[in-house]
Amino acid sequence: MVKFSEDKMKEVNEIIARYPEGKQKSALIPLLHLAQEEFGGWLSPASMDHVASILNIEPIEAYEVATFYSMYNLQPVGKNLFEVCHTGPCMLNGSDRIIDYIKKKLNIGVGETTADGMFTLKTVECLGACGYAPLMQLGQNYREHLTEEKVDSIIEECRNKK
Ligand code: FES
Repeated sequence: MVKFSEDKMKEVNEIIARYPEGKQKSALIPLLHLAQEEFGGWLSPASMDHVASILNIEPIEAYEVATFYSMYNLQPVGKNLFEVCHTGPCMLNGSDRIIDYIKKKLNIGVGETTADGMFTLKTVECLGACGYAPLMQLGQNYREHLTEEKVDSIIEECRNKK
């Protein structure tokens, strides 16, 4: 059963308390982030339902938000999530080539995860760092000015990480 632990519920309540009385629904985005972090890196219908029930809103309201933003994963993802920007400036600087290279190198398509569960490739819209194009987000960090060689060393780094 999907349920925040007692400890996590303290964090949940702190987040909800940031918003004025009657506006608890505004905590939806941060709570979905928390749920994603807590329940395996993605949002299952059960975890979205859990967040909706905490906020006393309809599950559909959580689904609407979760399906709108690319930072929410609606299916399980690998240990390392490559979120490659493919908006204009990144595209003009070779993001298509980088995406193709990752696809070939990992033998997966966009939206897919390697059989060993190590990598998932996603394409996303502008990450707001166009001056560093082409780039991707990996965890909490950006990997900038990507080249094939940089992709090789990022993959290597991920494989060597415990
Ligand atoms: Fe890629 Fe803006 S277009 S970061």
